[in-house]
Amino acid sequence: MLYIRFMFKQKTNIKDIDYKSIKPVFDSSKKRVYIETYGCQMNVNDSELVLAILQNIGYSLTKNIDEADLILVNTCSIRENAEQRIWGRLDVFRLAKNKKPKLKIGVIGCMAERLKEQLIEREKTVDLVVGPDAYRSLPDLLRNVEAGQKDINVLLSREETYSDITPVRMDENGVSAFVSIMRGCNNVCAYCVVPYTRGAERSRNPETILNEVQILVDNGYKEITLLGQNVDSYFWKNEKNPEKDINFERLLEMVALVNPIIRIRFATSHPKDISNGVLYTMAMYENICNCIHLPVQSGSTRILELMNRKYTREHYLERIAKIREVIPDCSITTDIIAGFCTETDGDHQQTLSLMNEAGYDFAYMFKYSERPNTKASRQMKDDVADEIKTKRLNEIIELQNQLSLESNRRDIGKIFNVLIDGLSKRSDEHFSGRTSQNKTVVFPKGNYKTGDFVNVRIISCTSATLIGEIVEEKPHETITELKNIIDETIQIVENKIKHKIKDKIKK
Ligand code: SAH
Ligand code: SF4
Ligand code: F3S
Repeated sequence: MLYIRFMFKQKTNIKDIDYKSIKPVFDSSKKRVYIETYGCQMNVNDSELVLAILQNIGYSLTKNIDEADLILVNTCSIRENAEQRIWGRLDVFRLAKNKKPKLKIGVIGCMAERLKEQLIEREKTVDLVVGPDAYRSLPDLLRNVEAGQKDINVLLSREETYSDITPVRMDENGVSAFVSIMRGCNNVCAYCVVPYTRGAERSRNPETILNEVQILVDNGYKEITLLGQNVDSYFWKNEKNPEKDINFERLLEMVALVNPIIRIRFATSHPKDISNGVLYTMAMYENICNCIHLPVQSGSTRILELMNRKYTREHYLERIAKIREVIPDCSITTDIIAGFCTETDGDHQQTLSLMNEAGYDFAYMFKYSERPNTKASRQMKDDVADEIKTKRLNEIIELQNQLSLESNRRDIGKIFNVLIDGLSKRSDEHFSGRTSQNKTVVFPKGNYKTGDFVNVRIISCTSATLIGEIVEEKPHETITELKNIIDETIQIVENKIKHKIKDKIKK
């Protein structure tokens, strides 16, 4: 029997969850859940929330499908091929269930939200379907599933931010963690399925964000990435005192102040919303990483308008110029879509020329994939032939490889402070870490360990990786560096004050 709970929201009492451990429990005497995650960083973080909820009702994690009593696949709908991969995984899970009929299979996340009951109709082995705002109801849904029924909850919420649930961390190294600061999206980019799978935008209570950051710091984490589909529109209203409303600039500052040695990153910024204030805050705090992910999607203003991105090529390039002015050593990365509806070769050439002007350090590049029920699928024709999309995408990838190589070559000879992530993939004698600009550096291990910060001089590179060697600090270098930092900070504070005064005068 299929229970459908679109219309009401169920809350499970989670007050008594034991949050002392933020690490997974591996215990073969308990029921075991195997979780596989696809899609963006928000999904990675959501799987950690789901694990917290499941551990509270007695489940423990397994990394081995054969040991699982429950398989959850946290899904993505962003492009058609993302969904195809998941259908392929469901075929594999079906085989596991044939071998072990008591095994339960749940589909959660964006594809669950998009397809709802169709998922169970198409794939009979699926027992459970849960959308991104319904994870609190998992204990109730699982009770029905364990009793042999199928269950589904895909209710979207205007308030849910899971702000009181501390995720159980599933990362391997204990160094970097994601913290969601908001959920959903209020932009309606014509190509994008996210507003439909994740619902309306809502910001999370800042106090709970700071608590979570503190818990991570107490547990040895060294790098926090704040997550939202459009972090620049973060906003928390202070009902008592509007002077104390918290926007993203302020939140970023509050998080940076939790502990000066913890690195702070954030994603994703929106070109229409990223403010000068955010740039000044980044420049002011040494521990906010000098890296901005600023998806452009297209270099043609005509295409940007059709995409409903709400900025022009000129506005985008002005934002890039401002970033370069305020944070000269900031890396800038982007997302690009090739072959959106009506895209001509002229539009494509504009994307290539914008890439050259922006000089991206890194990019995620995609062929346009029409998604059912989006504005583009309802109002526009997916009229660029697949071979042309492929050709344009290849040109974009080739240019980006060149730009990444040039960007890395400029780093040769420089010294960077690197946070060690773990062993390099290729050699146990080398560590892999990242610079503030989020570039990967590989270097001989020395006497350090994962989670340490080290200074590394870059000696060579490929388009994807910097190769370096550790430089032990000499005291006089530290003092000169300190002096430089103080000079820079004074300059930035002066700029920030000037900027604030200008803003006040404008008002
Ligand atoms: N919130 C972020 C990114 C969301 S999705 C933003 O606003 O930029 C990540 C990326 O997937 C997008 O930036 C876009 O480049 C790509 N994408 C989204 N929908 C797509 C589609 N239908 N076809 C191809 N790429 C898409
Ligand atoms: Fe999608 Fe646009 Fe929202 Fe990003 S800002 S999630 S691309 S609708
Ligand atoms: Fe995919 Fe959903 Fe993220 S569609 S990209 S998992 S928000």
